[in-house]
Amino acid sequence: MFENSENNLLNEDVQGNATLKNTPSSKNGKKVYLESYGCAMNFSDSEIVASILTKEGYETVKQPEGADLILINTCSIRDKAEQTVRNRLNFYRGLKKSHNKNMIVGILGCMAERLKDQLLEEEKLVDIVAGPDSYRDLPNLITNVEGGQKAVNVLLSREETYADISPVKLGENGVSSFISIMRGCDNMCSFCVVPFTRGRERSRNPETIVREAQELFDKGFREVTLLGQNVDSYRWNITKKGEIKDDTQETVSFAQLMEKVSLVNPDLRIRFSTSHPRDMTDDVLHMIAKHENICNYVHLPVQSGSSDILKKMNRGYTREWYLDRIAAIRRIIPQSSVSTDIISGFCGETDEDHEKTMSLVREVKFDFSFMYKYSERPKTLAERKYEDDVPEELKSKRLAEIISLQKKQEKELNKRFLGQTKKVLVEGPSRKNPEEWRGRLSENTVVIFKNNNYKPGQYIKVKITEHGTAVLKGEVIS
Ligand code: SAH
Ligand code: SF4
Ligand code: F3S
Repeated sequence: MFENSENNLLNEDVQGNATLKNTPSSKNGKKVYLESYGCAMNFSDSEIVASILTKEGYETVKQPEGADLILINTCSIRDKAEQTVRNRLNFYRGLKKSHNKNMIVGILGCMAERLKDQLLEEEKLVDIVAGPDSYRDLPNLITNVEGGQKAVNVLLSREETYADISPVKLGENGVSSFISIMRGCDNMCSFCVVPFTRGRERSRNPETIVREAQELFDKGFREVTLLGQNVDSYRWNITKKGEIKDDTQETVSFAQLMEKVSLVNPDLRIRFSTSHPRDMTDDVLHMIAKHENICNYVHLPVQSGSSDILKKMNRGYTREWYLDRIAAIRRIIPQSSVSTDIISGFCGETDEDHEKTMSLVREVKFDFSFMYKYSERPKTLAERKYEDDVPEELKSKRLAEIISLQKKQEKELNKRFLGQTKKVLVEGPSRKNPEEWRGRLSENTVVIFKNNNYKPGQYIKVKITEHGTAVLKGEVIS
């Protein structure tokens, strides 16, 4: 289940295909088709894979028919995400029979890491299993398969950030792009598979991040989203305890990194995803307030409104602590939009716990929310320690209640923009009606307006005239 897909930076269960704009120095005559599922990080990783394979002479193609190599970048966050990929493999089984008997199929990403060589046993079609830290090894893995073997590399690294690799932009709108700034997660929330599939936290060299932002700006991009599984715990040359690692080098905190990227150009908007409430310190909020081009938007996943459930989830904060962070956001950046993630039906969740989530949603009034039913994941602390004891129907009922409340409030909240004139970054034609165009506010809300020869990447002023649940409509002023 996911809501507001237009706004979701962690776009789970979405499929994407790939086009390649730059050409390799020497082609090897082979075609690769990349398909991505899961969060923005996976989509960003697929661009790294495209870059690595382009250097090997591969051409990326938009359609799987005719490709020599199919790479599926997968997600394990919920059982449904994995089932989607399993079903997709049926399609590729057929394609291999009908189109290309020599077609190589590789599974990348979180399912590869979670299931390892078990995937080869369960899915005979699969030739390559490559985890998120082993993409540099793909050329070797492909060579092994061409030599008649199956190939697996699921080693996790403490250092790999692919810092030196300039991603090849795939299927984006030419306006907004992602920049991966850290990888992995050390938090061990009890429900979550990510620490097992992505390994330990590590941050990327800030110089390479700023360089990538500059390159994107020079290519015409006007918005970058700094990505990490736990983005606000980014730190360069600082240990977890706050000590300097190497005093001949500069230290960079997440807030300082945001500032560095924001100084690339005032016309480059900065967003970030996803932050953990515990790391959302006031210095980050002051930095958002200080720079106009750091967007007034904070995504702060709460997961539950009950402190008892939060404790079992091992989130490291209470309801009160979370509400204090929301109060800090509203105090320091009064115009800011706030969004969240919520899980319904976690182990042992009572009606009372659920009511606490409902009351938190009522109290905070989130601009957006991504809401899910709890899905037990193998090997997680919750799977080992707690019973998945909320019946499926009750999980669904509670989820439906949260979604319905959220939708109602969202519509009310969007009213606040009526009559206001807002700066909008033009993205391109609207998905539903090409006569209309779409753009985005700093607050992340989508605005629809009449097409009048605007260019994607241009900033315009729009007076907001109508509001819906997820989108606004307006008239362009200038
Ligand atoms: N690092 C981010 C979340 C990444 S996963 C954070 O800590 O907030 C994105 C969202 O998926 C989570 O916020 C959570 O709401 C949801 N999620 C993660 N594991 C899940 C599970 N086992 N069942 C249901 N939803 C889950
Ligand atoms: Fe998962 Fe928690 Fe890490 Fe987010 S912070 S990726 S929910 S373990
Ligand atoms: Fe899914 Fe892995 Fe992202 S489990 S949400 S693709 S980190």
